[in-house]
Amino acid sequence: MIDKYGRNINYVRISLTDKCNLRCVYCMPSDVDFEKNYVNDVLSLNDYKFIIKGMSELGITKVRFTGGEPLLYPNLEDLIRYTYKDCKIDDIGITTNGIGLHEIAYDLYQSGLKSVNISLDSLKEYRYKSITRCGDLKDVLKSVHKCLDLGIKVKINCVVINGFNDDELLDFILMTKFYPIDVRFIELMPLGEARKIYQKGYFNIGEMINGIDELYKIDSNEKSTAQYYKFDGSKGRVGVITPMSCSFCNKCNRIRVTANGSIKLCLHSNEEIDIKYYLNKPLIFRETMKEMILKKPEKHYLNENQCSDTSRKMYQIGG
Ligand code: 5AD
Ligand code: SF4
Repeated sequence: MIDKYGRNINYVRISLTDKCNLRCVYCMPSDVDFEKNYVNDVLSLNDYKFIIKGMSELGITKVRFTGGEPLLYPNLEDLIRYTYKDCKIDDIGITTNGIGLHEIAYDLYQSGLKSVNISLDSLKEYRYKSITRCGDLKDVLKSVHKCLDLGIKVKINCVVINGFNDDELLDFILMTKFYPIDVRFIELMPLGEARKIYQKGYFNIGEMINGIDELYKIDSNEKSTAQYYKFDGSKGRVGVITPMSCSFCNKCNRIRVTANGSIKLCLHSNEEIDIKYYLNKPLIFRETMKEMILKKPEKHYLNENQCSDTSRKMYQIGG
C-alpha cells in the first residue's frame, strides 16, 4: 500500500491485549488490577486472522505482535503459525517483556517467530524489580539466552532514565560486543505515568553515545526507528531511539491495529479508526484499508507540551 507521501506501508504492529504482568513505573499506575477484566480486548482470534490475511493481500510483509504483553494472549502461537503458513508472511516479531518467554520460545520459533524485542531497563536484579514493580531479571535473561540459542533475532529495548539506569549504559553497550544482540536505548517520553518522572528522568542519550570514541555510526538503509552504532568487531549494535523528534516520519512504513479493533495510522497519534464494521467483509475491508492509508499523516507532532495521551498503547514505539 502506497500512501500519499509515497511511503510503502508494509509493516503492521498488532496489539493482542492491553494486559500486562508487569507494572513499569513509566507505563502503568501501581494499582491497576492484574485480574481486571480487560474490556478493551475485543478482537477474537478469527478477527485477528481476518485482519492479517487481508493485510497480507494488500502488501504487508512484516507483522509485529505487541500488547500490553503479547505473551499473555492465549492464541499467540496459533496466530504466528497462521501468519507464517497461511499468509506467507516471513518477517514476524513480538515486543515483549520476556517474562516466561524461555518456556515457549521453542514453540513460537517452530511456528514462525523470527525476532523478539525484549524490554529491559536494568541489569541489576533489585533495580529491575523496582522499575517493573514485580519482575524477575533472571527470568528475562533466561529468555534472552534461549532466543539466542534458538536463532531468534534479539533486540533489547532499554528506556534510559536519568538517575535510575544512566550508570548502566556501558554495561548494556558491552553486551553488544559479545552477543549478537542489538541494544536500543529509548529516550523517555513524557506520556501518561512517565510525566511524573520526566522532568528529573530525561537523559540525553545522543550526547552520551557521541562521547564514546570507539563507537561509530552505521549508515543503514533499513527502515528502522533507531540510529545504530557499532564497535569494531562487535557482534551486535547499539541503537538510539529518540521518539520525540520526527526524524523517522519520512520513512515510516507502519500502521497499528489495537486490541479494541481500531487502526492507528501513526503510532504517536490519538486518532483511531474503528475497523470492527469491516471485519469479515473482505472486499470492503480491502477498499477501506486502501482509502485509510491515504490518510496517514506526514509526520507526528510530539513534543513535551503537545503530546497527546489517552492510552498506553501509543508508547509502543520500538521497531
Ligand atoms: N518512554 C519511552 N519508552 C517507553 N516504553 C513504554 N513507555 C515509555 C515511555 N514513556 C517502552 C517500553 C518498551 C517499548 C515498546 O516502549 O519499555 O520497551
Ligand atoms: Fe508491561 Fe511493557 Fe508497560 Fe512494562 S512497559 S508495564 S512490560 S506494557
